[in-house]
Amino acid sequence: MHKNIAVAKIEIDYVLGVITAVNDVLHREHLPIGVRHSLRHKEIIDRAALNHWWRDRSIPASRMGISEALNTLGIYETGELLTKCFGLSLSDHYWIKPVKSDLTWEKVNFFDNDFSDDIGDVLFGTGKKVLSFDFVSPDNTSDGNLKKRWKIMNGKRCLIKSGSAPFRQQPFNEVIASKIMDRLGINHVPYGIVWNENEPYSVCENFVTKDTELVSAYRILQIRPKENHENEYMHYVNICKEIGLKDIVSSIDAMIVVDHIIANEDRHFNNFGLLRNVDTLEWIGAAPIFDSGTSLWYDTQEKFIPYADIKCKPFKKTHGKQLRLVSDFSVFDFSKLDGIEDEIIEIFISGNYSNFIDENRAKIIAETVQQRIYNLQKIALRHSENFDNSFSEGDLEENISE
Ligand SMILES: Nc1ncnc2c1ncn2[C@@H]1O[C@H](COP(=O)(O)OP(=O)(O)OP(=O)(O)O)[C@@H](O)[C@H]1O
Ligand SMILES: [Mg+2]
Repeated sequence: MHKNIAVAKIEIDYVLGVITAVNDVLHREHLPIGVRHSLRHKEIIDRAALNHWWRDRSIPASRMGISEALNTLGIYETGELLTKCFGLSLSDHYWIKPVKSDLTWEKVNFFDNDFSDDIGDVLFGTGKKVLSFDFVSPDNTSDGNLKKRWKIMNGKRCLIKSGSAPFRQQPFNEVIASKIMDRLGINHVPYGIVWNENEPYSVCENFVTKDTELVSAYRILQIRPKENHENEYMHYVNICKEIGLKDIVSSIDAMIVVDHIIANEDRHFNNFGLLRNVDTLEWIGAAPIFDSGTSLWYDTQEKFIPYADIKCKPFKKTHGKQLRLVSDFSVFDFSKLDGIEDEIIEIFISGNYSNFIDENRAKIIAETVQQRIYNLQKIALRHSENFDNSFSEGDLEENISE
């Protein structure tokens, strides 16, 4: 189902959570993105691709603390959790409706209806073993490796997400990235910090609404195969243009610039994407930037920070190379970042009840960010002096020869 539209009749192995048959396709245009493929000029529904999409809705096996949680719930695989909550999520509007049931979107969706805290409690290690858990929760379908749960706070659906040992830094990084994007006027999800038992968590509101849904870049790339003359950047940009988003480059420019400043190591293709209107299926544009926490040397000891070799995703392996994909630096007013050093230190230190990050670490990170901003300003200046529209082309040649 897509809201109340019956998309396809499928059979699911309830225990394994595997789609064993696609019997009837009723509204093919509403099928999840990337499962319609053409074979000898005929369109087919790729059951393997549909299963891949379905499995991707389940909690990844790499999620922190998942084996203990499954043990408490008495369940073998995270895939089993999917069918128990009809596959409902707070990031899109797909679900499965059992045959002959009279359930409607209005009755089941998590945007309007409350949901159980049971699964969130278990995922956070605070759930007790009880006889029957209430499995109807969007936590069954949340993605990502960090411990997380959805909570209704002041009537709003909010995602609460942990950091990881040893510094538990990711929640602070989300807040710092938000501040940097505020200053640069970049569309992003605002994050705050909440503390629970002396541990910091990031909190952000759901940016998906009753009318819009998130489609990850990974899914967008499934719309059609990459052509030989395209690198991954051009594959993504070209598909966005083909589906009608003419101005996608400026939002990718912004993402690359921010990721450079914060030394983001994990902007994989499920960490950004597009929004579309669920009812009209019209593409709206890039989703606001979210999940920027795996950055700012989150797991690196202080003495290595200024020299650390930072991984880069999704288009290039180094931030230097990825920066060459930026078409237009002139829209970024880097002077708006003046004084960000002090703000970074302040965010790390104030209200930090548990000393995961001390002042020395905060200072080193802030100084290194400042240095990256200076370098970026120099690069931007050189770029505007020399820009001849050939950056992406040169980059492509290099990619092909690689
Ligand atoms: N504010 C939000 N509103 C709606 N959906 C969200 C929001 N934040 C995250 N999501 C969805 O939840 C998924 C997991 O969240 P997020 O990427 O922040 O977690 P993570 O554990 O840091 O991920 P990773 O494994 O990439 O580090 C996202 O890929 C996205 O689909
Ligand atoms: Mg993520």
